[in-house]
Amino acid sequence: MQDERVVVVTGGGSGMGRAMVQEFVAQGDRVAAVGRTREKVEATVAELDDPGRALAIEADVSDPEAVARCVGAVLDWSGRIDVLCNNAGIIDSYRPAHEVPLEEWDENIAVNLTGPFLMARAVLPDMLSRSAGVIINVASTASFSAATGGTAYTAAKHGVLGLTRQLTFDYGKLGIRVNAICPGATLTGLAEAMLADQGDDVPDVEEELRRFPAGRWCEPREIARLATYLASDDAAFIHGSPLVIDGGWLTAARNPL
Ligand SMILES: NC(=O)c1ccc[n+]([C@@H]2O[C@H](COP(=O)([O-])OP(=O)(O)OC[C@H]3O[C@@H](n4cnc5c(N)ncnc54)[C@H](O)[C@@H]3O)[C@@H](O)[C@H]2O)c1
Repeated sequence: MQDERVVVVTGGGSGMGRAMVQEFVAQGDRVAAVGRTREKVEATVAELDDPGRALAIEADVSDPEAVARCVGAVLDWSGRIDVLCNNAGIIDSYRPAHEVPLEEWDENIAVNLTGPFLMARAVLPDMLSRSAGVIINVASTASFSAATGGTAYTAAKHGVLGLTRQLTFDYGKLGIRVNAICPGATLTGLAEAMLADQGDDVPDVEEELRRFPAGRWCEPREIARLATYLASDDAAFIHGSPLVIDGGWLTAARNPL
């Protein structure tokens, strides 16, 4: 394996994405931190021990033209893309279908499902030219069950597993390995937004989490370390898999949020 890879992390301005940028840089890779908010991705890069190994790019992953510009900028910077972490995502308002405004549905599908497709589509020609590459899609426990998101989020995250499997089927034999990470409750801005949206009548989250096997929130760094493992040659036999990292949430089958 080459020593230094070029990694693209979407949603690199906060939460799991920021932790991924930090972990990949710490292991010697060069990383493009992509995000919708310029200040956030620039802060991710500025706070690195070695900011020279990273590039901040403002791009909306649901916008095909922005995605094309973003991937072009990474290739100008690095000459290749070895790893894509499709991590950017948004939560929904937890409404049942008959109350979901079409705008909410459209935005959730655009960011959480079309975004990973657009990014994969844009990096694949470079990966195919070298018959090598790794794509990691951040899905969710909401890829398997209802109630950990609302209608739009759950549908989009189920779709991310379908995308992962089809990419594996189409590109696995061509040297490109695709997998999904399926986190449970992880302490990030997105989790805080979920809690804020749910109002006052939700149970105390810390108390609920204690009912689950791990009994705590996942740390973004734990997700990032799964991503660096999946991107490594140690994971060479893992293709098309949804890797659940939820502290036993799905096994215990009750939503702590
Ligand atoms: N936190 C959890 O409990 C949890 C659980 C399961 C899955 N996830 C998934 O993990 C991923 C990362 O989320 P997080 O928890 O770190 O939350 P987060 O809100 O901290 O990070 C998401 C990032 O994506 C960026 N983003 C949003 N829309 C974008 C767009 N259109 N283009 C580019 N960037 C965009 C945001 O600016 C933000 O920096 C998401 O895909 C989310 O669905 C989170």
